[in-house]
Amino acid sequence: MQLIDGKLTSKKIREEIAEEVKQLVASGAKKPHLAAVLVGHDGGSESYVAGKMRACEEVGFNSSLIRYEDDVTEEELLAKVHELNNDDDIDGFIVQLPLPKHISEEKVTEAIDPRKDVDGFHPVNVGRMTIGMPTFVSATPQGIMELLKRYKIETSGKNVVVIGRSNIVGRPMSVLLSQKGYPGDATVTVAHSRTKNLKELCLQADIIIAAIGSPGFVKGDMVKEGAVVIDVGTTRVPSTETKSGWRLKGDVLFDEVAPKCSFITPVPGGVGPMTITSLIINTLKSAKKEIY
Ligand code: GUN
Repeated sequence: MQLIDGKLTSKKIREEIAEEVKQLVASGAKKPHLAAVLVGHDGGSESYVAGKMRACEEVGFNSSLIRYEDDVTEEELLAKVHELNNDDDIDGFIVQLPLPKHISEEKVTEAIDPRKDVDGFHPVNVGRMTIGMPTFVSATPQGIMELLKRYKIETSGKNVVVIGRSNIVGRPMSVLLSQKGYPGDATVTVAHSRTKNLKELCLQADIIIAAIGSPGFVKGDMVKEGAVVIDVGTTRVPSTETKSGWRLKGDVLFDEVAPKCSFITPVPGGVGPMTITSLIINTLKSAKKEIY
């Protein structure tokens, strides 16, 4: 069994990017600039956004954090999105989800200029991804594709089961892995809460991607010998062993599943660190006008 080290891979990529940014700046270009809009004080969102801002600093980007309280109106938020769309100094920006119930996430996502949508959530970018055009691919699936590449994991003709059909992870993952080329050319099944015979489907899988947000959902008896298992789950569970009082738990019961795998991602330190790095990659692509 080989552990897929997302933390190390992510560190390497960030070093590569930092080097590239130095050269860009030396040649007279401005530093890439990522902005993040954060509404409210949800602990998970706070720490994700803090991680994104830290990553910017690490690679030499400029970053801006724009904060609102939970009672911000949809109009105020949309006005900020328009302002960021028109700010030439900003190469890309994200609005951290989830948003409070009185604000339409769809409206806000659609208001973002696709050319600055480094999250890859805008319908135009999702559509471009679906037909294989250059685009901003959402960060988690892109991070997983990068891990498959860097660990030279064969995907052509393989049976992949993606568990979870979210717009951000499951669905784009299934599209990317079924596309022509590498990593791709796989036969992909998308499983979800209404799927029957999930265990049998998983036992047929060469690669399992677990993205359901249910800690320990994938058990040892669901995985065939030699499978590749990618764990996207990052649920916070109470813990007496950490200062914060919680720790991250994946969707895969690691101790049971790992001994059967050829490759597996740990939680933490697997997919998670790659997600933020993918956002950084997208911001650099935007600054270099590689997509649009
Ligand atoms: N909420 C959870 N993941 C993400 C993400 O990748 N981007 C944004 N904007 N919100 C999120």
